[in-house]
Amino acid sequence: MAKLKLITFGCQANEADSEKIAGVLAQEGFDLTETTEDADLILLNTCSIREKAEQKVYSLLGTFQKLKTRNPQLKIGLCGCLAQREGLRLKDRFPYLDLVAGPGAMIYRIPELLKGGAAEPLLPRPKEPLPLYVHSPRPRRESTVKAWVSIMEGCNYLCTFCVVPYTRGPERSRPPEDILAEVRDLLAKGYKEITLLGQTVNAYGKNLKPRTCFSDLLRAIDSLAGGEIRIRFTSSHPKDFTPDLIEAIANLKSVCEHVHLPVQAGSNRVLGRMRRIYTREEYLAKVRGLRQAIPDIALSTDLIVGFPGEGEEDFQETLTLLQEVRYDSLYAFKYSPRPLTPAATYPDQVAEDVKTERINILLQLQDQIALEENRGRLGRIEEVLVEEGPNPKKGSSATGRTRRNQLIHFSQEILAAGDTVSAVITESYSHYLKGKIA
Ligand code: 5AD
Repeated sequence: MAKLKLITFGCQANEADSEKIAGVLAQEGFDLTETTEDADLILLNTCSIREKAEQKVYSLLGTFQKLKTRNPQLKIGLCGCLAQREGLRLKDRFPYLDLVAGPGAMIYRIPELLKGGAAEPLLPRPKEPLPLYVHSPRPRRESTVKAWVSIMEGCNYLCTFCVVPYTRGPERSRPPEDILAEVRDLLAKGYKEITLLGQTVNAYGKNLKPRTCFSDLLRAIDSLAGGEIRIRFTSSHPKDFTPDLIEAIANLKSVCEHVHLPVQAGSNRVLGRMRRIYTREEYLAKVRGLRQAIPDIALSTDLIVGFPGEGEEDFQETLTLLQEVRYDSLYAFKYSPRPLTPAATYPDQVAEDVKTERINILLQLQDQIALEENRGRLGRIEEVLVEEGPNPKKGSSATGRTRRNQLIHFSQEILAAGDTVSAVITESYSHYLKGKIA
């Protein structure tokens, strides 16, 4: 069998795409390998969200050139969001690239591109509508416990910082029958957790005929699953976080008590310039609605510091928002100007050292809040799905996640991936918990 080394950068959508790439290429006789040295084909599934993600890809590509000199049979390809954005320009810069293919729906064409060489049209032409989910490839999944299920692709919002609309294209939803068939298959195979994926997952269904919505899909999946598995979803846009969705999370047994709700900034002035289409007050009202319906809901978020024009007062408003919401966890990023996006051309860019200072203050505050929250959970009993058995390096006998998506380590009980146990929380830290079987 030929050997494929697949290297994935970026978000969960990219991880899910990589499983599809592996699935498509398995049908072409490729098996996965861990090392680049014995690979016949190396594919980088790339990310374009921040400059750092791109730099990593470029430096890795440089090292692969040497491998190719040693082994001229080796093929090297670039997939995903950087490939989509840069297109065939990449071949000018890296002439030894054998393949360039965009993310999502372009995956099913990889075998054809591999055979066709460089003359093929490698990406959809700019005005050509991106293919819908007509060729939803069968993924080769990494886990036997947790599965990604892509339900929509692309994004119709035009946040001024974000490159995603230019890499993953406009919003397209996958037909519900297709999604339910995939879920049925996962249930039959014994999967314990399904994460529904989309760039704005809760905008699902708007462009389908007949029109449907995300809460309807959740209800349909929950009734298939009969409450036996866990359902998660990411990422949600606050604008589409409607009362019927809150009700669905509250009432459906399989839907976990965790919502990732990117806020990006705490100041209305910055939110306006980001074109997030909600105010701080509207966002906080959604959080209140969620907590009223599901008092113990866990909340996480994404934040950007140093967006163009972000002044000291704006940043302080991000800190007070953190204190008001008290997130269980968050991802914070320094603003990174992206090609094609409006904010990259704004004249009032924030200095790098100011961004660094702000992100450090923010992360420190978050660590303190999370530690206080987690200390408040000591002694509680929570349902844990085990994801990993004994790992001597980490000094744990098992690791899993609570329904609230908190990481929990065991040190006594030997457990296996896929086990569901009741655990009592015995120790609390900012980023994880420790526990033992209740
Ligand atoms: N710079 C920094 N962070 C960004 N994100 C998206 N675009 C940028 C950018 N240009 C962050 C947002 C988003 C997360 C996936 O990445 O917080 O929610």
